[in-house]
Amino acid sequence: MNVDVVLGLQWGDEGKGKIVDYLAQRYPVIARFQGGPNAGHSLHFEGTSFVLHSVPAGIFRSNTMNIIGNGVVIDPVIFGEECRSLEALGIPVRDRLMISKKAHLILPTHRIIDAASEHSKGASRIGSTLKGIGPAYMDKTGRNGIRVGDIIAPDFRDRFLALKSKHIAFLRQFDYTYDADQGEENWLNAIEYMKKFSLIDAEYYLADCLKENKRVLAEGAQGTLLDIDFGSYPYVTSSSTTCAGACTGLGFPPTRVGRVYGIFKAYCTRVGSGPFPTELNDLTGEIIREKGKEFGATTGRPRRTGWLDLVALKYAVILNGVTDLIMMKADVLDAFDTIKIATSYIIEGQDIKRVPFDTHTPITPVYREFKGWGKKLSGIRKEEELPYELMAYVRFIEDSTGVPVKIISLGPDREQTIIRD
Ligand code: IMO
Ligand code: MG
Repeated sequence: MNVDVVLGLQWGDEGKGKIVDYLAQRYPVIARFQGGPNAGHSLHFEGTSFVLHSVPAGIFRSNTMNIIGNGVVIDPVIFGEECRSLEALGIPVRDRLMISKKAHLILPTHRIIDAASEHSKGASRIGSTLKGIGPAYMDKTGRNGIRVGDIIAPDFRDRFLALKSKHIAFLRQFDYTYDADQGEENWLNAIEYMKKFSLIDAEYYLADCLKENKRVLAEGAQGTLLDIDFGSYPYVTSSSTTCAGACTGLGFPPTRVGRVYGIFKAYCTRVGSGPFPTELNDLTGEIIREKGKEFGATTGRPRRTGWLDLVALKYAVILNGVTDLIMMKADVLDAFDTIKIATSYIIEGQDIKRVPFDTHTPITPVYREFKGWGKKLSGIRKEEELPYELMAYVRFIEDSTGVPVKIISLGPDREQTIIRD
């Protein structure tokens, strides 16, 4: 058996929560492989909604085991709050969730460093979610981090205080006022709560699953265009969001990657700074934001909106080896007579079909126009009922990427999901 991977192909917020929850019925094991509480995976069902930050989106399915992998960074406070609200809904979280001992912890001072670093950058700030993600990964790769498995060590508190002192020393370079003790008591209490969970060597657990022919789904956070290597650096997150990150973030070999489900919205959004070639700073962009409810699930920030960028989508398909495309939120485009897709970029007078290295040179997208479908899609439940114009849009994406669109999602609910064979 292989590990199937589901990930975002744009700048995050593609609808991964809904799709993982949907696919979870076919997988007994769901495992998050990177990112941390910068993620906000929204799920809607039976009239309620829930936003997950650290917990995999299989948690609502009774026969699913959820794993937080070594590639993830965990803020114990946010994690604890999330688990308690799940428990309040009657979800037996501790029976359905296990955590890799090798996942790294986000300390309160990581969040302070994130804020101080952003503050010091002024106009060139990344637009980080300020959850301490970048500083936590810095300590991981800098070999200073504290891991989940360390919380049961007798000298855990000393290790925590030692890292905190390093952070205070590091913070001296910034002109930034802060309270180094803020949130510390809460954090240490949350560590105690975390001890009640099964802390495991997840790579062995997953290897056993594969041996026993159990299907595993690896759940990504953020999106390919925010990847630390391939995103629009430095306006990226600090982890490997691509398919390869699933292997290193969970500990299974590349030879066991099965299907790769790539999720994209029928348009684009981006939250935070950085280049966005197809961005619409006009009424069209405003309509997409309002209709698509494009406001951050983690920070509440309004998302930047724009037309679908096929240059970037094709790049994401190549990087991930996508086998199945999943298109979200076409229903948001119902209102438009004309819908556009960027097929290349004009950069310094040249027509370019690749994502450029330089993120600063101005880019003018070249668009191909499509006729709008002029009808409401959200009530459609069968593929045969999808309008011709929408299918022309879908077919163009399939022909350009060489990958079939296997799922078309037309709204947040589980029922608004059309599977194509
Ligand atoms: P999900 O999983 C959208 C963006 C931030 C910022 C940049 C770096 O819900 O799709 P960070 O806090 O990671 O240092 O911020 O990445 N970002 C996201 N944008 N969805 C997300 O997650 C994101 N996680 C981080 O806005 O531009
Ligand atoms: Mg999000």
